[in-house]
Amino acid sequence: MKIRKDLILKYNQAGPRYTSYPPANYFHEGIAADDFKRAISQSNHERPQNISLYVHIPFCPRLCHFCGCTTSGSKDINVFRSYIDALKTEISQVAQLLDPGRSVTQIHWGGGTPNSIPLDMVQEVMDLFRSHFKIEPHAEIAMECSPAYLEFEDIDRLAAMGFNRLSLGIQDFNDDVLKNVNREPSKHPVDQLANRMNENGFKGLNLDLIYGLPGQTPENFKKSIEKAIEVNPNRLATFSYAHVPWVKKAQSVLEEIGIPSAGEKLALMEIAYGLLTENGYMSIGMDHYAKPDDDLYQAFLDKQLHRNFQGYCTRATTGQVYGFGCSSISQLDSGYYQNKKTIKGYIESIGNTGWAVERGYQVNTDEKITRTVINEVMCNLFVDFNEIGKLFGKDAAEVKEIVGYDVDKLALFLADNLLGIKEEKIKINADGSLVIRNIAMTFDPQLSVNQNQYSKTI
Ligand SMILES: C[S@@+](CC[C@H](N)C(=O)[O-])C[C@H]1O[C@@H](n2cnc3c(N)ncnc32)[C@H](O)[C@@H]1O
Ligand code: SF4
Repeated sequence: MKIRKDLILKYNQAGPRYTSYPPANYFHEGIAADDFKRAISQSNHERPQNISLYVHIPFCPRLCHFCGCTTSGSKDINVFRSYIDALKTEISQVAQLLDPGRSVTQIHWGGGTPNSIPLDMVQEVMDLFRSHFKIEPHAEIAMECSPAYLEFEDIDRLAAMGFNRLSLGIQDFNDDVLKNVNREPSKHPVDQLANRMNENGFKGLNLDLIYGLPGQTPENFKKSIEKAIEVNPNRLATFSYAHVPWVKKAQSVLEEIGIPSAGEKLALMEIAYGLLTENGYMSIGMDHYAKPDDDLYQAFLDKQLHRNFQGYCTRATTGQVYGFGCSSISQLDSGYYQNKKTIKGYIESIGNTGWAVERGYQVNTDEKITRTVINEVMCNLFVDFNEIGKLFGKDAAEVKEIVGYDVDKLALFLADNLLGIKEEKIKINADGSLVIRNIAMTFDPQLSVNQNQYSKTI
């Protein structure tokens, strides 16, 4: 299947990625630990009742120039030790406020590179989780790993700790491209890592790739995608390189090497889209692909797909998210609570008070309604104003008024045949999914786009 490149270029403007609503740039410092504590207690009476746990590990042995994540190059074992101790304190503090009857359906380790710290430390945290929480037998337990530091035995150990999904950061299989971005290739062949995961009964493997890096060409990127397909993961993400040097100064280095233009990036995206869809992968949103029998694709078909800061998930697995570690964000029904961003600031704050929240946002009912509409647009490409209204005791007209619905704002998308409107329902088609951020922006009554605030679609 071909993508309509003309459309993507036409709608290529800066805008929020809507991993949360309101987006994280709305968070403010009027929110502190006491608000978070109250929100945790209140969350015991809110939906969803199930719990998702997120652990942030802000360490990488070597820093990639393109990286947009919150991480550091620290390799000091004493810093790791203090960080894990702080994490354990924070987990115990949160657990004391949570209703022990609630169960955990999702645990996600992200970073940084969680597999770059000693696995004994991972084990300590997992043991603590098990001592504090009721973890569902089928909970999704996942870690983002860099294959540069992943040994076969690590996979065995992670399996023994209960991990059942791994996401491997490949970015590109081409060594020259990796050199340009200061990244080490996988230590072992990735297909052999995948085999070891299969032997250990893992349920899911995801590969992350990025397009738009210096040195990527249609020819070499095609080979990388073909190699990724050979590994046969259940899921694949091909992220558009987000260039935000005003936030991440290290990215400026890449300008000197030469970053592909929007048109060149689009050609890379088209290669990924074409090869993946021809080889049994279904496209979910703009960046993500899944095998047809994967939970994620099934949830998309059933309009049950959801998103949190960790990525796409199914409504059945994700719950309210309690985040641990520096920069981590707890996403509760009532709002967002983000920890201090620096490792030092986080460890000190936990040491002094047991808490590290430094900013956040409390969501009112109108914002919850907008959040639901935008989530439906971004994940399920479908909005039913009546159904959303029912969740909040409102009718379709009231929901539309809250999100500033105006059919004129959708006129361009209608003219380009990207969506259809029937009664109180909006259905976005496959072409529309490629400009989904632009469509979502029309349902955001608070939107104000400052050029240097958000990355562009392409
Ligand atoms: C925490 S990392 C994954 C685990 C590990 N640190 C690694 O790199 O293998 C999360 C993912 O974010 C993506 N990422 C990081 N910086 C990005 C950027 N500037 N633009 C788009 N994607 C980015 C990469 O694909 C990366 O795999
Ligand atoms: S992409 Fe991954 S390995 Fe590279 S610096 Fe970012 S978090 Fe670390």
